Amino acid sequence: MAQSITRRKLGKIAAALAAAESAGAGMAATQDGGVRGYYRFPNSFLWGCATAAYQIEGAAAQDGRKPSVWDAWSHMPGKTANGDTGDIACDHYHLYKQDIQLLKSLGVKAYRFSVAWPRVVPEGSGPANERGLAFYDRLVDELLSNGIQPFATLYHWDLPQALEDRHGGWASSETSKAFSEYAGLVAGRLSDRVGHFFTVNEFLCFTDQGYGSGIKAPGRKLPDGAVNQVRHHAVLGHGLAVQAIRAAAKAGTKVGLAENARICVPVIESAPHVGAASKAMRALNAPFLTAILEGKYPDAYLLAAGRNAPRFTADEMRAIASPLDFVGLNIYTPTYIRAADSPAGFVELPQPASYPRMASEWLTIAPEIAYWAPRHLGEIWGVKDVYITENGSSSTDRLTADGKVYDTDRLMYLRNHLVNAHRATAEGWPLRGYFLWSLMDNFEWADGYTKRFGIYYVDFKTQKRTPKLTAEYYREAIKRNCAV
Ligand code: NOJ
Repeated sequence: MAQSITRRKLGKIAAALAAAESAGAGMAATQDGGVRGYYRFPNSFLWGCATAAYQIEGAAAQDGRKPSVWDAWSHMPGKTANGDTGDIACDHYHLYKQDIQLLKSLGVKAYRFSVAWPRVVPEGSGPANERGLAFYDRLVDELLSNGIQPFATLYHWDLPQALEDRHGGWASSETSKAFSEYAGLVAGRLSDRVGHFFTVNEFLCFTDQGYGSGIKAPGRKLPDGAVNQVRHHAVLGHGLAVQAIRAAAKAGTKVGLAENARICVPVIESAPHVGAASKAMRALNAPFLTAILEGKYPDAYLLAAGRNAPRFTADEMRAIASPLDFVGLNIYTPTYIRAADSPAGFVELPQPASYPRMASEWLTIAPEIAYWAPRHLGEIWGVKDVYITENGSSSTDRLTADGKVYDTDRLMYLRNHLVNAHRATAEGWPLRGYFLWSLMDNFEWADGYTKRFGIYYVDFKTQKRTPKLTAEYYREAIKRNCAV
């Protein structure tokens, strides 16, 4: 039935549209093909892609690089799918110029890569390897000459095997110290051209999973108390690295981390559940993000750990809490929370077997995480600058007869996360940029090459890269600066 619209109503609608427009939710616009109702990001929003050294570089024994725990572990029979290793991976060490052209053709403004510790300081500590450092000089220079800002991660799990052999890796605080020296070295070398450094990528994956469950390198299975100590040495390594970077880097260099915090999503957006999600966010991230942002392990964490609690000094906690310039979060899956009448005040909801997921078994989908991640950081901890440092999905990609990959599921995943990221910016939460994981298919750790996360398809026999449908989508989103 036709509605009669009065002038007053029209006036109200126009005012609402103007408000939405100024918040970034563009409603008009038809110059770009008549698309309506799209979501525009702030002009300064930083679009990027992310990768990591061991997953793409290959050249594992070239120019003085020595093995990391991942080289050692992936070469042990039965540890990775099909016995896959990162020996060659995407051969990015040799193909980096062509890969930077892929980034350029997407229109990204920034690229997050990681520096391989065993390439730069092959023994973990001691002399630097000039040929290793020179690779990152070349990479950074090539990015800059193509107008792409480099964002460098210093530790994406490739611990020099020498440190594992000498000290038991992260089981010893010697590794925390060695990490900070290496971090200072790299920052001193690159900070004239690299403005942003991430100390560590995803604590849980190299602490609990490397030394507890043993499903990732170095594949050890230590008792709970020892694992808590590993966690402590890892956050300590982060804190010492922040200090070392500040001491060595050019003034104004920004330092942060890229953490896979549990993203607590209130199961219903009502005050009690939102409050519960915020309590859960602090509690469930106690050993890592909360400790770093608050300089203290929450009492409940220490109490629950009992005699297995980590041992630490006040000086160490001060180092761990070294102030950061930004916080990066790698976001993939949700933790649904509801309010509860219990001392904790929240309950974590299990996901039913029918819960939707992507090609990786663990990758359950909830695009709202792209809204809640920056909101929690801003609301709970007052963080001023947040980046989504990874978000993306695996898909059972197939090259079709016309030479294309129609990864509509990945595109759906991305679009819906961007809509939620937009919501965060429109509401004023401190989200400054988004790094898609990943530029191209690569070595997906224990899953080897069986899980593809790229927006470029890689034929690992020929090293040919083919853009998937999602690459086209992402290029369009970046061009229009919105979730199209
Ligand atoms: C996060 C990790 O940082 C990255 O290395 C990994 O490939 C993706 N998650 C997908 O599992």
